[in-house]
Amino acid sequence: MAKKTLSVIKADVGGYVGHSAVHPELISTAEEKLAEAKRNGLLIDYYCGHCGDDVALIMTHEKGVEAEPIHRFAWETFEAMTEVAKKLKQYGAGQDLLTDAFSGNLRGMGPGYAEIEFEERKSEPVLIFLADKTEPGAWNMPLYKMFADPFNTAGLVIDPSMHDGFLFEVHDLFEHKKILFDLPSELYDMLVFIGAPARYAIKYVYKKDTREPVATTSTQRLALMAGRYVGKDDPVMIVRAQSGLPAVGEVVEPFAFPHVVAGWMRGSHHGPLMPVSIKDATPARFDGPPRVVCLGFQLADWKLIGPRDLFADPSFDRARQIALEMADYLRQHGPFEPHRLPMEEMEYTTLPKVLEKLKDRFEPLD
Ligand code: F6R
Ligand code: MG
Ligand code: MG
Repeated sequence: MAKKTLSVIKADVGGYVGHSAVHPELISTAEEKLAEAKRNGLLIDYYCGHCGDDVALIMTHEKGVEAEPIHRFAWETFEAMTEVAKKLKQYGAGQDLLTDAFSGNLRGMGPGYAEIEFEERKSEPVLIFLADKTEPGAWNMPLYKMFADPFNTAGLVIDPSMHDGFLFEVHDLFEHKKILFDLPSELYDMLVFIGAPARYAIKYVYKKDTREPVATTSTQRLALMAGRYVGKDDPVMIVRAQSGLPAVGEVVEPFAFPHVVAGWMRGSHHGPLMPVSIKDATPARFDGPPRVVCLGFQLADWKLIGPRDLFADPSFDRARQIALEMADYLRQHGPFEPHRLPMEEMEYTTLPKVLEKLKDRFEPLD
């Protein structure tokens, strides 16, 4: 059986209302384009997902990763959606399309993408996570727990096919470098880096014996590309599950703890990443708190059977309750750190413009 590709390509091309959700007409525009691409053979199958003000084109195809026709199709779809967003005066219409014209692939152009090429197994459960009001490093802790923490993933202890661990590819988003860690033996080395999620992000997890990719994330940082504040990156992640990989329940388990991520209001605050159902992926309070949804699919000859809305389950109610309590606690800090991000990270927000205005007011102390 030949390898095929699962691509998740996302962008914020306009919010309804403010930055809280996506207007149904933008979704139907994307769905029309996706249906047409399936009819003319570019795609095997598709699903149009969304989380907050971001739309994710979930697509299966035979073109490989970073393929020109797929990236071009996504770009043109986002352009068509932008037209609708402009007509409806949606907020920040066309926000994530940083350049005027498409050239080659989406690298550095604004939209985020996670793509993975593999051979479909006899049964292939795939979980697709979409987040809003946060950054790519938000996946570091959950991915670490899924594929490296035996307190999360019982299979690392019990299943002989997982017992040797996994390989993790970590990207330095500032220096554009990558490093491969072999876990568990290099666990402590990897934590040095992934514990700093603003700069380092896990891009891929690979099976050790076959080197096939089993998880991947989008790692674009809009502010680094644009050189100015354009909202948070709102990343996506693909994780394959079961039969020698973490079980579906082990993949979602890390989200029972709503860990603190960077993002939220004005991309400038720390807040809990709250797992929610698709219908509740509509950040409201203080433009948040940051959200994550999980769409589960069974692949069947690369058809996307699903999605199942995995965080709609009551077993995540406690996580939501804890997230809301954390939100109350953090909000009471107002403009003080550690609710507000540290000064180095505020460099990528609108704060430097305020600093600029005040810089001449400083006088030497002696
Ligand atoms: C967060 C986000 C929003 C905006 C905020 C202010 O990623 O996009 O929190 O930063 O609503 O938006 P403007 O400055 O456009 O009024
Ligand atoms: Mg927005
Ligand atoms: Mg967003």
